[in-house]
Amino acid sequence: MGIYRKMQEITYEDYKNFIKKNQFVIIEDVEIKLNGVWNIKSYGPDKYINERTTVWSFPNRGDWATHKGNYRGNWSPYIPRNLILKYTKEGDYVLDQMVGSGTTLIEAKLLNRNAIGVDINLDAIMITLDRLNFANDIFSLKNEKVDIKTYVGDARNLNEIKDESIDLIATHPPYANIVSYTKTRKQSDDLSQLSLSEYLSEMRKVAAESFRVLKAGKNCAILIGDTRKHKHYVPLSFMVMQIFLEAGFILKEDIIKVQWNMKTTREKWNKKENDFYLIAHEHLFIFTKPLNNNELKKYKFSIKWW
Ligand SMILES: C[S@@+](CC[C@H](N)C(=O)[O-])C[C@H]1O[C@@H](n2cnc3c(N)ncnc32)[C@H](O)[C@@H]1O
Repeated sequence: MGIYRKMQEITYEDYKNFIKKNQFVIIEDVEIKLNGVWNIKSYGPDKYINERTTVWSFPNRGDWATHKGNYRGNWSPYIPRNLILKYTKEGDYVLDQMVGSGTTLIEAKLLNRNAIGVDINLDAIMITLDRLNFANDIFSLKNEKVDIKTYVGDARNLNEIKDESIDLIATHPPYANIVSYTKTRKQSDDLSQLSLSEYLSEMRKVAAESFRVLKAGKNCAILIGDTRKHKHYVPLSFMVMQIFLEAGFILKEDIIKVQWNMKTTREKWNKKENDFYLIAHEHLFIFTKPLNNNELKKYKFSIKWW
């Protein structure tokens, strides 16, 4: 480990050429159609209310605009919507460096924020660009042009993104060895292919790059779940949380996100009664980059656990 691929921009032109030859891509054995262009029926949820507590639950995951919910491990659009509305203003820059099917970027576009999306998998970037391709070509809800860029790249090396240039990071990393996004076409840089110990050590690079590109005083939201090995509980989320704290972040929130669609776990464990519970929650950690060293020192002193 150590040499990570550099970011390579994938433009709208690249996408247009791609869809001339490809009507779909395959992610985790699932065929995902590339529409070419989308006729949008609704540009937002019907009755949206900002979340007020530290428990979030979206039984209806949300299917407005181009959100489809058919990319393995995608997050409900309500999550980036809440984060973007709470922590940014119009014109700010939002980053999702493991962008998958583009949920965060679609929300950024709808809410008039600039955005950068990165994924290790070119096919994921093609899905993202496809879903940003609204038929009536609105740039954002207010018809103002937002700057949205997509890259094939590695979350451990955000070389095209300047230091302290991002206002919000909102991302959902894969978990070690749980969901492999590139089963059909093995991709060595995919974090989901790593063992637990390798994964944790590589997440240090993700945390360091997140810290570098984020503006001081701004927030970085990471959704991450836990797992079981040999029937015992592996608190992966807290291990990742600790890694982000060690990178210099302050913990602002720990939100419990109720999980509704636990495909693999359900298929595996639902058949018989077990002596353990199905994991039905994930953690959405919100970290703040401290304004300066004094703020960090004060925080460490107040918690005194490491
Ligand atoms: C949980 S999915 C993200 C889903 C996304 N939030 C959505 O709504 O579609 C995790 C993504 O991380 C990507 N990924 C895995 N390793 C990566 C790496 N080293 N750098 C960047 N992206 C990576 C995978 O290709 C996958 O698309």
